[in-house]
Amino acid sequence: MQISFASGAAAGSGACVVGVSEGGVLSKEAARLDDATSGALKRALASGRFKGQAGQSIEVLAPAGVSWSRIILSGLGKGEKFDATAAERLAAAAVGRLLASGEETLTFAVDLPKRAKLAEPDLAAHLALGAQLRSYRFDHYRKVSDDEKPTLKNVVVVTKAAAAARRRWSDVSAVADGIFLARDLVNEPANVLYPDEFAKRALALKKLGVKVEIFDVPAMKKLGMNALLGVGQGSAHDSRMAVMQWNDARAKAKPDAPLAFIGKGVCFDSGGLSLKTGAGMMGMKGDMGGGAAVMGLMHALAKRKARVNVVGLVGLVENMPDGKAQRPNDIVKTMSGQTIEILNTDAEGRLVLADVLWYAQSRFKPRFMVNLATLTGAIVVALGTEHAGLFSNNDELAQRLTRAGEKEGEPVWRLPLGDAYDRLVKSKVADMKNIGGPNAGSITAAQILQRFVNGVPWAHLDIAGVAWQDGEQKPLAPSWGTGWGVRVLNRLIADNYE
Ligand code: BES
Ligand code: MN
Ligand code: ZN
Repeated sequence: MQISFASGAAAGSGACVVGVSEGGVLSKEAARLDDATSGALKRALASGRFKGQAGQSIEVLAPAGVSWSRIILSGLGKGEKFDATAAERLAAAAVGRLLASGEETLTFAVDLPKRAKLAEPDLAAHLALGAQLRSYRFDHYRKVSDDEKPTLKNVVVVTKAAAAARRRWSDVSAVADGIFLARDLVNEPANVLYPDEFAKRALALKKLGVKVEIFDVPAMKKLGMNALLGVGQGSAHDSRMAVMQWNDARAKAKPDAPLAFIGKGVCFDSGGLSLKTGAGMMGMKGDMGGGAAVMGLMHALAKRKARVNVVGLVGLVENMPDGKAQRPNDIVKTMSGQTIEILNTDAEGRLVLADVLWYAQSRFKPRFMVNLATLTGAIVVALGTEHAGLFSNNDELAQRLTRAGEKEGEPVWRLPLGDAYDRLVKSKVADMKNIGGPNAGSITAAQILQRFVNGVPWAHLDIAGVAWQDGEQKPLAPSWGTGWGVRVLNRLIADNYE
């Protein structure tokens, strides 16, 4: 879909969206169109219960007196509540309605409501972002033509601040690109996206200036990453680790320690010998959602040439049952030297992350580490699909992530860590076991990760409830894979480290 910004009065063909504030107050552009259509818009308003509430809209088809094929009146709600998120949702709703409607062009002529919580260029950029995110499709496996194919090709945002909006959009659209990449990775089935294929897609970031290294099994053996390798040893697909570095162009003058982002990249999680049920396995092609977010972030940072040094690492494995697979009661020695007794081969994400976290801090000496992982079913029980779980050993980092999540519509909720929980992963024969007891499953998983951060400021985001969606579709995410994480991490960096 092509997105452009235009100044001056809205004119053209196709659909046009105008704003109506709460109480049924027409915006300037809506009033102008009402005049041109001899009052068709006011008559439409009077005929329905629509009063300009946020999230609502009505459509006037083929109005006489104007060139538009339809006019959509979109509710802006109360001006003082109208913010970037509201603009994104408004645009997304219009795109959702028109994407496969037969219309090819959609023009937004939404005037900034009085007392709105954002400036004109931001309104335009966020309308564009909402439109773009909602236009995503994962349909390259649909080979037979169908009439659900999108028809919408152009989105025009009319704004008084077109030049500023275009500048804003060049950054914002880089983030949208990163989200699309993350969604693609999560949506890809595991027969296509296995560890080496994920690694190949990481290598494609080189053309944006990202330095990419791929570690194969012998390289990881040499490093002593036996916990990660143990998870992958039952798979026909060899394990990999992707290391991606984005360095600010001025890095030589300013050699800051990097920020490190680490992703769980389990390309398929069958559970291993502690095999999941058929139903429990559904969706486990998305168990690399953390890795997808990290790669999407690296893409976004490189595309917008972020002024920061960042390293992204993804541990890539497939967890399968096999004659060579790891067994319950096996003991593995991690890269850190600590040993782990495997009591359940389905608690594999923490094993992968244990080695990648240790490697990340020992090689890069980062300012902090944030890891993302679809780590526990228990976090879905606790927080559902609204918040990701946040665990951290650092209050400042936790607060920054919380604020970034609020701003970007990817909220996180902090849960506790502590010695009393840490005790639950003591093993009788090794330094720890890979599961706790029946309770507090998300926390005991986080305690295991914390044992591998070596005191570095760190946060863990358990994204098992938000990386993909089976229930009601989120307003800005039209596919199964949501691309969750790219936005919050990008905001964390942009607001605090650039
Ligand atoms: N990938 C799963 C977690 C998961 C579950 C993600 C449901 C999304 C939806 C993880 O590897 C896992 O299997 N965790 C186990 C841990 C248990 C064996 C201690 C779980 O949550 O059941
Ligand atoms: Mn598992
Ligand atoms: Zn898993």
